[in-house]
Amino acid sequence: MMNLPQTLLNWYDLHARTMPWRTGPADSAAGLAPDPYHVWMSEIMLQQTTVAAVKDYFIRFTTTWPTVGDLAAAKDEDVMAAWAGLGYYARARNMLKCARQVVTDFDGLFPNTPEALQKLPGIGPYTSAAISSIAFNVPATVVDGNVERVMARMFDIHVPLPTSKPILTEHAAGLTPQDRPGDYAQAVMDLGATICTPRSPACGICPWRDPCVARQKGTAADLPKKEPKKPKPVRYGIAYVASDENGAVLLETRPDKGLLGGMLGWPGTAWAETAAVPAPPCAGGWTQSPIEVRHTFTHFHLVLTVMTLSLTGTQAGFMPRDQFRPANLPTVMRKVWDAANRMT
Ligand code: ADE
Repeated sequence: MMNLPQTLLNWYDLHARTMPWRTGPADSAAGLAPDPYHVWMSEIMLQQTTVAAVKDYFIRFTTTWPTVGDLAAAKDEDVMAAWAGLGYYARARNMLKCARQVVTDFDGLFPNTPEALQKLPGIGPYTSAAISSIAFNVPATVVDGNVERVMARMFDIHVPLPTSKPILTEHAAGLTPQDRPGDYAQAVMDLGATICTPRSPACGICPWRDPCVARQKGTAADLPKKEPKKPKPVRYGIAYVASDENGAVLLETRPDKGLLGGMLGWPGTAWAETAAVPAPPCAGGWTQSPIEVRHTFTHFHLVLTVMTLSLTGTQAGFMPRDQFRPANLPTVMRKVWDAANRMT
């Protein structure tokens, strides 16, 4: 019978995608593992975010903060500003907490087992398995959406996700090799991203086409099955963009807990499922922008009315124009800025 992991590793040696946090196949085949700091940072960034979106952020972060010690010593607001646009901002706050804990508790060296890694902020079952296998060659099983899809097809599992998750995890664990487990984990991810794709899988060129049960039965494109998702509710709010005659703007740092925690944002009302009651942060002749902002979060769609106000004189507490960079705002707040300036 075909040695499934070895067949996939042979394919990976030829077809691995190049990514800034990876060592090349020749290096990894020779036992040269990538920097654990790089693996950790890339895996935190890749939670809920695509490889394409992460690449530039990864390069910017590792250039600005080349070691975990550099990151641990960074100012919170600089890290949050650098993260702006990547979304799921709790990841950035936990990343910084984790870096500081690795420095204080582990002398700047990441622990290598899934158990120890999972005690650190922001590291769950997926990320601990990814770091220990990719950076330390521990044969931990990595299960992300790609792996779930590949396993559902290989073993023709018709139970829908998320109910099927434990079954798919067990299949994935059964295939994880002792040899090169980190390359193997990334090989399954690459297979899922480039060949065993959600729609129209390229079975004809798949290194696992012969043993794949769904391929034999013709069910590959219908798998994995998914339980229906609840529709997202719509929430409404008002955002207020005030500027003074020098172009300074009124911004606030959002509380650490909650959505967009620790990020800069425009003052505004709470976001509720009914129309918002106006609550301007200062008195004045506020004007409504003709452009509404729409943004989708994990659990709801948001519609924001944008109000603008230009004040005369210099306003205390406003952020001076030369310190304000729209790129440092989370995406929804950058959309508000664009609407206030009719740039959309
Ligand atoms: N998604 C998450 N981690 C990844 C990795 N190391 N390679 C490719 N895709 C990934």
